[in-house]
Formats: sequence, structure tokens, C-alpha cells
Amino acid sequence: MPVGGPAIPDAGREGNVMRYAVTRLRLADFRNYARLALDVDERTVVLTGDNGMGKTNLLEAISYLAPGRGLRGAKLAEVTRIGGAGRGWSVAATVTGPEGARAIGTGLQPRPGQDGGGGDRRVVHIDRQPAGGPAALGDVARVIWLTPQMDRIFGEGPSPRRRFLDRLVVALNPGHGREVSAYERAMRERNRLLAEGGADPAWLGALEARMAAHGVAVAAARLDGIHRLQAGMEVTVSAFPLAVLDVSGVLEDVLKSRPAVEAEDWFRDRLAAGRHRDAAAGRAVEGPHTSDLRVHHATTGMAAELCSTGEQKALLIGITLASARLVAAESAAPILLLDEVAAHLDERRRAALFQEIEGLGAQAWLTGTDTAVFAALGGRVQFYSVADGLLHEAA
Ligand SMILES: Nc1ncnc2c1ncn2[C@@H]1O[C@H](COP(=O)(O)OP(=O)(O)OP(=O)(O)O)[C@@H](O)[C@H]1O
Ligand SMILES: [Mg+2]
Repeated sequence: MPVGGPAIPDAGREGNVMRYAVTRLRLADFRNYARLALDVDERTVVLTGDNGMGKTNLLEAISYLAPGRGLRGAKLAEVTRIGGAGRGWSVAATVTGPEGARAIGTGLQPRPGQDGGGGDRRVVHIDRQPAGGPAALGDVARVIWLTPQMDRIFGEGPSPRRRFLDRLVVALNPGHGREVSAYERAMRERNRLLAEGGADPAWLGALEARMAAHGVAVAAARLDGIHRLQAGMEVTVSAFPLAVLDVSGVLEDVLKSRPAVEAEDWFRDRLAAGRHRDAAAGRAVEGPHTSDLRVHHATTGMAAELCSTGEQKALLIGITLASARLVAAESAAPILLLDEVAAHLDERRRAALFQEIEGLGAQAWLTGTDTAVFAALGGRVQFYSVADGLLHEAA
């Protein structure tokens, strides 16, 4: 029996909400969806359909209910339906969770009077009130995703791995998203001043102090996150391989041996000393914005980039499920967006994946081209077929 144990019926947890779930979803001019109105219950949803019908787009829409830039990391304008009326798109949803049902509205709204050039901003409303930005969504919805594009993260540069790590940490600790944004804001401001030249050193010093304070918070949350993930994986029997996680980066490395206050002073001084270098490079050369997630396969000892394609996928699924279990233990099971995950697993691992999702009590959104792959889930899930941006409830 994997991890998380057998499914716990809701009746046994009265008054205790065990999951985050989307129950109402409305899309307008989102990718190939002109309009979509979908009402579901808290059970897992299976979306099947041919290639290019809109399965991933629907998962992408749900990913905008969480902090960050969506599961494709797309530019906001790219999401607007081609051939749509305006230049905006919207996703509105009801998400149930430990704090009850919350209404989320987000999207790109056309701003009348503007020339349309640049300045696109994502609008976020929570319970019909404007929220500061996407980072505020971390308190309302916990969403974790795995997509086929992520299969390549071990063979690429550090950015996609760092984003993967930060998303896992945000699901555990919603404040992390705000710290990352605050760090990046201060860094962009410093980059701009350095590029202009002749900046007031006191002003640069103030920005470096902000980068150091938020940078230490970011690095410390990552270290704490991987530590908890590692501990969780090690006590779990799973059909997916055990991963050994580490995060490398100048600040994370210092934090491994020195207290946070010292690391903060160290980084601030290092930024001040690196002004000429950063001005010449046109950007801050080092800091938590360049850190990397290192993953090894515990059994074979291989670095993830040297593992086979199937092993890499299994490692990613293992890490994703471990993070979902942690979130579930600390608040409630996160919404899982698993794009084309089931079809590529052998029968044993597919059964284990379904069992783990059910054990978590999570609402998963699963996609595939072949309905038969999901047959084992039977009546415990909601089946929809997707065709050209329209959904039909499958019998
Ligand atoms: N901004 C947009 N406006 C209109 N259509 C778009 C937009 N962006 C993408 N599309 C189209 O949406 C369609 C559905 O894409 P999606 O990725 O959701 O397909 P899918 O069902 O996941 O297919 P697959 O099984 O191949 O992964 C594609 O044909 C794509 O070209
Ligand atoms: Mg797809």
C-alpha cells in the first residue's frame, strides 16, 4: 500500500475539510475556449479528447488560480483567444478549502484609453475584492502541477528547476511567493539604477539591504522546503523512486552553515562589492535568482540528468506526490493538475498513482487521449470529453 494509506471517507472527518477543490469554473476568451461554464464536485476530474482539443488549456486556466505565471509561464497576451472580441481573457472560479468557499477572478483586462503596447497586468480578485497580485492567491488555493514540458527540466539550465522548486515551496508556504516577488522587485530596481549609472550609493545600499532580507527569506524557505520534502519521502513507501534533493546557490550555501542574520549581512556586503561587476553584466550576477535544484536518484545514486527518461519522470512524480502529502498534512490536499501523466506509466505505477491520489483525498485533474487508461477509476471520478474548446460530460 503506498503512502498516505487508504482513502479516508469524508464522513470520518466531519468538520474537517480535507482538500482544496475547484467546484465552479468560468472561462472567457481563454485560449481555444470562447466561453466555458463548468460545475463539478470535489472529486477528481478526468479530461479526455484528441490532440489539440483544449485539455492542457483547461489545466492552464486552473493553474492561474495559484500564484505564479501559470503552468505554461506564458505571456498574458498570448493566452487571449485568437479571434476573440477584445484583447483580454478571464478565469473565474469557486475554490473550496479549509476556509470555506472562496471566489477567485483573474485575467488580463483590456485597459481602455491605452495604446495596447506593453504594461499588461494580471488582475486578481479574491471574494470580489481586488487583491494585491497573484501572490495573494497562495492563501486561497494550493495547486501543484506536472506537465510533459517538465520532463525536460533536468537536462536544461537551472531556471525551470528553480521555478519547479519555488512552486513546491509556495504550495507549502504561501508567503514564499511574496518574498520571491519582493526580492525580484528590489533586484530589478537595482539593475535599472546600475544601468543608468551615477546612482546615489545610499539608494543602491537600501535596495541591496532589501535584496538581502528577502533573499535570505527565499533561500531559507527553499532549504526548509526540501528538508521537509526529503524527510517526507524517506518515511514513505512509494511506487515512485526516492529522490535526494539539494539546492545550490550562493545564499543557500552560506545558510547551510551560518545563521540567517549573518547570511543577510554577508549577502548585502557582497552585493555592494559587486556593483561594478553587475553594472558591466547588466544584471545581478549572483543571488537566489540563480539557484539550482539538484536531484539524485537515491537507489542508483545517479544525478537526475543522467537518469533515463522514464526514471526522470518517475522522480518528478515522486517529488510532486511528496509535496502534495506535506501540504495535505499541514492544511488540506492541494489541487493536482497532472497533464498526460497516466498514459506514460506502466500498469503498476499507474495504479499506484491513482491509489496515492485517492489516499490523499485530493481533487486531481487528469488528462489523456485514451479513456481506457482511466477505467480503473470507475465511478469515483468525473469524466469529461473535450472537443474544440467544449466540454461534454461523459456517461
Ligand atoms: N490564444 C489562443 N487562441 C486560440 N487557440 C489557441 C490559443 N492558444 C492555443 N490555442 C489552441 O488551443 C488548442 C488546444 O490546445 P491544448 O494544448 O489545450 O490541446 P490538448 O487538448 O492538450 O492537446 P494534446 O493532446 O495534443 O496535448 C490548440 O489547437 C492550440 O493551437
Ligand atoms: Mg495537452
